[in-house]
Amino acid sequence: MGEKEEAVRETLKKYGQEHLLLKYNEMSAEDKEKLLEQIQEIDFEQILNLYENTKKEIEVGKDKIEPIEYVNQFKLSNEEREKYIKIGEEAIRAGKLGFITMAGGQGTRLGHKGPKGTFKLTEDKTLFQLICETLKEGSQKYSVIIPWYIMTSRENNDETVAYFEKENYFGYGKDAIKFFKQGELPMIGTDGKILLDKNGFVKKAADGHGGIFEAVFRNHLLEDMKKRGVEWIFVGGVDNCLVKMCDPIFVGLAIEKKCLVAGKSLVKTSPEEKVGVFCKRNGKPSVIEYTEISKEMAEARDKDGELLYGEGHVLMNMFNIKGFEELEKNKLPFHSAFKKAEYMNANGEIVVPDAPNAYKFESFIFDAFSSLDDMLIMRVKREEEFAPVKNAEGVDSPETARKLYNDYIANK
Ligand code: UD1
Repeated sequence: MGEKEEAVRETLKKYGQEHLLLKYNEMSAEDKEKLLEQIQEIDFEQILNLYENTKKEIEVGKDKIEPIEYVNQFKLSNEEREKYIKIGEEAIRAGKLGFITMAGGQGTRLGHKGPKGTFKLTEDKTLFQLICETLKEGSQKYSVIIPWYIMTSRENNDETVAYFEKENYFGYGKDAIKFFKQGELPMIGTDGKILLDKNGFVKKAADGHGGIFEAVFRNHLLEDMKKRGVEWIFVGGVDNCLVKMCDPIFVGLAIEKKCLVAGKSLVKTSPEEKVGVFCKRNGKPSVIEYTEISKEMAEARDKDGELLYGEGHVLMNMFNIKGFEELEKNKLPFHSAFKKAEYMNANGEIVVPDAPNAYKFESFIFDAFSSLDDMLIMRVKREEEFAPVKNAEGVDSPETARKLYNDYIANK
């Protein structure tokens, strides 16, 4: 037995995870090496903690939650508007804006085979294409190349890159688009054992969009941005075909208010809508997820009848590069999600479950906000900026998003 194997066996014994070598003896030398490396990369103490946390209820608990201040861009005076737009336009024209699209998710709810961005929303256009079109429009308007960074995951990276190649980068230019992979964490069963995948390797899943900080750092993207003169990074999800990334008033306001991080909000349609909301948590900016907010808090209204916690957070945030660097230093908490995951059982059989059986761990980008003293929240119009594609049918489905998109185009 080699030294590496011996060390791995010892660690596995210590943490009761010996089953990870179930297929080891049957593997080729190359696969053996790969498996040992996978195991050596695991932080078993972290896995133990994450498992313990799955047994605890998520609760807002003793956190002091308060409404957060926001700027309603439609209540600004014409003078103010013009001032911010001018500042923002100057910055964009000077090449200070870059975009990141978070496209590492699995999109299981949509049921589309392949990366979510390759889903054809309109008759002839995919989500990636629609997003690229707004980008192209901005870049033409301000005569500047706006670099576009696309976060993928191990599971969908190759397919995403191949898709862009095939589509000739939608004419946006290969040099302006960079792909980078987010990290992963092992999945575990209800007994705390790490799962094996169907080939006998460690079963891993993307570590949530909060993984963006570590992934940007690991891929040296801030250096690339700095080289290009980028100072502001707009970060959005792949599942909103109306995401307005190139928005001078947002950029201008952020610059003028000297903030390091800014978020766009939109008014929740009802207390039940499944969007997180911006708030202050223990005095710091934060987002309460729709899974976390109490009915009472979701329904509370202010004296004007508006929802007290009504500033919906829809993953449209912008970071000053210095802010991104600061946030990168923080360790974000992991949230667990109970999912259906195919795996190899102790007898070496492949199990395809029909009910959730495993925990996946994800960090959320907005958990980073709480290390800031303040952030700018700017309220925008839902019909101009938000057409989410989440579910196969019903609410937030291709059908509803297509309608919102077509209405937007018709009124543009
Ligand atoms: C999310 C937000 C919620 C917001 C809503 C609005 C979270 C936890 N919640 O909910 O506050 O109101 O969107 O649309 O995000 N992604 C990655 N890597 C991952 C996981 C996700 O890149 O590991 C990307 C997805 O590709 C997608 C976006 O993040 O672009 C949203 O992820 P999803 O998990 O679908 O979040 P929602 O539950 O829809």
